[in-house]
Amino acid sequence: MDKFIPYGRQEINDQDITSVVEVLKSDFLTQGPRIEKFEKDFARYIGAKYAVAVSNGTAALHLSALSLGVKNGSKVITSPISFASTANSIEFCGGEIDFCDIDPNTLCLDIDLVRNKLEKSPKGTYKGIIPVDFAGYPVNMEAFRSIAEEYGLWILEDSCHAPGGYFLDSKKEKQNCGSGKYSDASIFSFHPVKHIACGEGGMVTTNSFEIYEKLKLFRSHGITKNPEKLSKNDGGWYYEMKVLGYNYRLSDIQSALGISQLKRANLNISRRREIAKKYNYSLNDLPLKIPYANYHEGHAFHLFVITCKKRDELYEFLRAKKIFTQVHYIPIHKMPYYQNKYGIQEFENSELYYSQCLSLPIFPTLKDEDLDYIINSVKEFYE
Ligand SMILES: Cc1ncc(COP(=O)(O)O)c(C=O)c1O
Repeated sequence: MDKFIPYGRQEINDQDITSVVEVLKSDFLTQGPRIEKFEKDFARYIGAKYAVAVSNGTAALHLSALSLGVKNGSKVITSPISFASTANSIEFCGGEIDFCDIDPNTLCLDIDLVRNKLEKSPKGTYKGIIPVDFAGYPVNMEAFRSIAEEYGLWILEDSCHAPGGYFLDSKKEKQNCGSGKYSDASIFSFHPVKHIACGEGGMVTTNSFEIYEKLKLFRSHGITKNPEKLSKNDGGWYYEMKVLGYNYRLSDIQSALGISQLKRANLNISRRREIAKKYNYSLNDLPLKIPYANYHEGHAFHLFVITCKKRDELYEFLRAKKIFTQVHYIPIHKMPYYQNKYGIQEFENSELYYSQCLSLPIFPTLKDEDLDYIINSVKEFYE
């Protein structure tokens, strides 16, 4: 192999480049019309009422946490198997994270363990839950909603891995990840390895007008120019800073790329599913586990994760063949920050998963011959 194969990669075509160049030649590099268009297009794609574009997925989490009212002492449950910022968003607001283990079959937050935790705690202990559609597996938000209703919690869905993913609800109807039907807010990232690449970028989707309004305020310094919301009006230049907000805006340059990329989202997810299918049947006989081999087509396959006993050796073996796999993720509770704050914690399924997991390359432009090369290399390792 004369090139290396990464585990994930963006795909930029001529239309993307033309769209960005158009913005560069226009009047607005930021805070122009592309942002709103991207928000509208994305909300339509996901099937949510509102979408708010922000500078990255972490900002999307932070603003969602603020808009949901996380403050000093707010306790929130999430999975240790995610990127650190899922948990960090609560810490940013002075809240406290309480991790709950994953279900080894889905690699997502185990709903039964969440229920146990809630049952054992006095009502009112927790404020919310952040389920993560890990690797693109669509978490059943309807099930989480019923728990949330029972205990008066909000749900923030981390759908960074799952734009285009869906689960089937109790009526066997498709419910898109992040649609907001069962969650209060959902977030996405447009980092280059994700389904839609803006360089950096993020989005919050919600069906709540109240949350939508808060998100927009927090995104831009807490400032409003809306005459209906001002306490007085000194003139056309006048604005008021209502809350302590941030500059978490997405630019028009990035939004133009997002709009253009979104047009190929369906095509690209089909290719991801095709690759996953091929991995599934080609690796089936090997002594490794594909945690969701039989799962239906609603998986968004941001990652293709396997678990196996000789993970470290396989990682090195593939690397020597220029196949760059990755480990997603080092459990968040193992990070020194979290250990210093909450002490050493053990989560059996997460620890086992971390010791065995490996993400094989999956991205829309992965060529068939490269996919064959990866599959044959994995087989060679086991021979
Ligand atoms: C599950 C998950 N949540 C949140 C984030 C944060 O997104 P960003 O890198 O855009 O800040 C990521 C990105 O790596 C992620 O994978």
